[in-house]
Formats: sequence, structure tokens, C-alpha cells
Amino acid sequence: MAISFTLNGKPQSVDVSPDMPLLWVLRDTLNMTGTKFGCGMALCGACTVHINGEATRSCVTAISSVAGKKVTTIEGLSADGSHPVQQAWMEEDVPQCGYCQSGQIMSAVALLSKKPNPTDTDIDDAMSGNICRCGTYQRIRKAIHRAASMHTAKANSAA
Ligand code: FES
Ligand code: FES
Repeated sequence: MAISFTLNGKPQSVDVSPDMPLLWVLRDTLNMTGTKFGCGMALCGACTVHINGEATRSCVTAISSVAGKKVTTIEGLSADGSHPVQQAWMEEDVPQCGYCQSGQIMSAVALLSKKPNPTDTDIDDAMSGNICRCGTYQRIRKAIHRAASMHTAKANSAA
């Protein structure tokens, strides 16, 4: 059965089992490997994407449930790493092994779209489901604050 949805702003249709996890579809059917497989049980956050703007664990999301919805993956943030959160991540040198980082970035982008100037508590609450075995949490927090201030500076210069 073909299932249609919007992927990174473009129409996408896949003919797969309706209960196949979105993560499998992204990685194995569509060859989009920016989204990572960690636990497969909604416990680590490595597979985080946005569905209609909400940070969602794609490993436990059946493809049938995204029919007609908007899915955004790390590949959809920017073609060249120029999204403010990606920029802030580079400037703060956040990644170590990098495995968790696309999920971390997707959770951070979803947080900033709801709270453009998050407190440390907001950050800890929003990011607590994204595990980093390399322990980059302090730099993640700094990068989120940096991305927030880049956004504020841009808004001020446009005013
Ligand atoms: S792979 Fe989905 S939360 Fe770990
Ligand atoms: S950078 Fe290695 S798991 Fe997070």
C-alpha cells in the first residue's frame, strides 16, 4: 500500500508495510542516513525527526501514522549546514563521536521553535530524552543558547 507524506518539503510516497517504522523507511527505503538508529525503543533519541513540527522518535513511529503529515529530518534543515542551530553546533564544537547529534539537533530545533529563548531548565527538560554517551551535554546547552542569541540578534537587526 502506498503511503504519502511530505518529506523535507517535497511530496514522498513509499510502498512498504504500514507498520514499518519511519526510521527504517528513511534509512533503508529512502537511503537517508542522517537519522540514526540507537535503541529502537524510544529510549535514546538518536532517531529524532519532526512530524508536523514536533520532535518525534522515528524508531517507534509506524509509517502509516505519518500519512498526510510533514516530516523533517536533519537533511531538511539546510542543504549546507547553514541552519542557525547547525552553525551554533559547529561554533561550540559540540560533537564527539557524532552518533547522537542529528537527534540532538532535531530536538534543539523543535525546542527553539517553541521557546526562542529557553532557560537551562527548559533545555534540560526538552533534551532529557536525547542520550549522549560521549557526554556532550554542557556544549549542547551552550550551543542552544548561542543559537537563541543568533536568532535574537537577527530579529533585532531586522527591526
Ligand atoms: S533509536 Fe529511537 S529513541 Fe533510540
Ligand atoms: S557525541 Fe558521541 S554519543 Fe553523543
